[in-house]
Amino acid sequence: MKHDTIAVIDFGGQYAHLIATKVRKLRVLAEIRQPDDPIEAFLPCKGIIISGSPSFSAFGEDSGYTKAIYDLPIPILGLCFGHQEIAKHYGGRVIHGGQEWAHTELRVSAESPIFKGLGPVETVWMSHFESVVEVGPDFKEIGCSRLGSGGEVNRYAAIASEKLRRYGFQFHPEVDDTVHGQQMIANFVLNICACASSWTMGSYIDEQVSSIRERAGNESVFLLASGGVDSTVAARLLGKALGPERLHLLHIDNGLMRKNESREVMRRLGEMGLGLNLHFVDASQDFLAALSGVVEPEKKRSIIGDTFIRVFEREARALGIESHLLGQGTIYPDTIETGGTRRADVIKTHHNRVPVIQEMIAKGRVIEPLAELYKTEVRELGELLGVARDVVWRHPFPGPGLGVRLLCSDGKPDSADFAGMECSVQELVRPLGIAGRVLTIRSVGVKADLRSYEHPVMLSGMTSWKELVEVAGTIFRLVPGINRCIWNLADTRPSSFALLPATVTRARLDLLREADDLVMEGLRRHHLYHEIWQCPTCLLPMSVDGKGRELVVIRPVHSERAMTAAPAPLPEALIAELRRGILALDGVSGLCLDLTPKPPGTIEWE
Ligand code: XMP
Repeated sequence: MKHDTIAVIDFGGQYAHLIATKVRKLRVLAEIRQPDDPIEAFLPCKGIIISGSPSFSAFGEDSGYTKAIYDLPIPILGLCFGHQEIAKHYGGRVIHGGQEWAHTELRVSAESPIFKGLGPVETVWMSHFESVVEVGPDFKEIGCSRLGSGGEVNRYAAIASEKLRRYGFQFHPEVDDTVHGQQMIANFVLNICACASSWTMGSYIDEQVSSIRERAGNESVFLLASGGVDSTVAARLLGKALGPERLHLLHIDNGLMRKNESREVMRRLGEMGLGLNLHFVDASQDFLAALSGVVEPEKKRSIIGDTFIRVFEREARALGIESHLLGQGTIYPDTIETGGTRRADVIKTHHNRVPVIQEMIAKGRVIEPLAELYKTEVRELGELLGVARDVVWRHPFPGPGLGVRLLCSDGKPDSADFAGMECSVQELVRPLGIAGRVLTIRSVGVKADLRSYEHPVMLSGMTSWKELVEVAGTIFRLVPGINRCIWNLADTRPSSFALLPATVTRARLDLLREADDLVMEGLRRHHLYHEIWQCPTCLLPMSVDGKGRELVVIRPVHSERAMTAAPAPLPEALIAELRRGILALDGVSGLCLDLTPKPPGTIEWE
């Protein structure tokens, strides 16, 4: 069945994905399109939404997108940057100024179907530096906002041309802070574009089952089953389409799994009736050998990805199934270039998009039945397919596993200006009575959509969580070269800081596995496992006791789609248990909690 589709033009990764998920909640298919996609890419759509943009301004510079969309006879809604673009295109004017930030009151100033069912005043979320100050002849203002306490009015916060079916909102209806944002999107999608709500998970299953059968023909599919949500749901769907005889599952223990994980994964896949061609290989030695001596995060990632393929090819040959198609549990955000926008820098390479896999994709040898879904949708699908709840609601675990949580170093600090950074940090933290120390290790982060590889600050001393998070925010804003803040959980302040030479070894992985297991068990015991979105535990080759033992960092986060994340506080009782358990592990000298939002940090450290 062909579904009505809304195209979301992606001018800024996270905004576009938020819009798409809000449209999909209405059971209408939303697909991300790039700004310079040819006009043909928009022809099958029933409406277009132009996203906001963190990096483009509607003022002056040309953002170079396919302007022919304005000639299409379908409705268009522009949000923030998109709103300004629509105003400009139809003869309006945009200026620098009228900046608004956070919650704002929108006063509906004229009737429009896009505001159907809403009140005269709505709470909306604003984040802009430029404003529309004039609209073209076919347009009218349908909403204005109040600026500041003086009561001045910002005109044209919402505009419309009912004749052309063009609409613009200066605010962001896609974020939950716009209280009735979902209703506004529903008015656009269901009423103005007249889309039918046919894109249900039930229909998705039926369509995928037919599509998998058609793609596979008489061939079988070979899937790498890590045990995570995505690959398990993909296995279930492939099994449903092809039957267990034509589905070969290979679980590779890459040595970078959690404690007892491989055993559990094999048990679960067997219980799901997928045990007929279920293969297991302990390839930890291959991975450890390939990673030997490697320190640089991107290099580790690409080695892990390449080793997966090498092991997979070797095992496929050994099992005589090398000519099978390759199945992958890739999800939608990972197929949109690097998970952000096409303009986005490569922040981290996803291992299901390394060059060897790209080549196989180009040859049509890869089936990815979840490639159209977001994580929340994969979970919904998993539940519908009867996958066990504890698998469906597991925390995400990255393909490269603990490999991106076990930091490595050659033991030599880089050439950053540590004294300068340290001085700036001290000034900011001193008023709180806490100490701040810039660590010589580096981790990956994302700043203004670009990859950063910078230093963490370790804060020591007692103050409230709120103050810690606030001062961390100030440090990120004011001290260049810092992309993370961590808080020392040990009772004592570190006596020394030394970067240790360390690479990926079985002993270090075993130590990290123990620490991670204590954290996971603790979250479950305190009924926090489902409240917290993900909680990586990292091992840093930093000794803080002068004895050459390492530092453990726990990174609990709240997130919806991993595009952004907020640090999650842990209750004092759990912290006390983790302090006792983790600091007692042989080889650990310190324990910290990560206070970093994303951005500027990423969820994983590498
Ligand atoms: P970051 O660290 O970029 O991670 O904020 C966002 C989400 O993606 C997961 N992640 C990966 N998942 N292969 C995966 O399948 C990968 O290479 C990979 N790298 C990060 C990460 O755990 C988080 O949920």
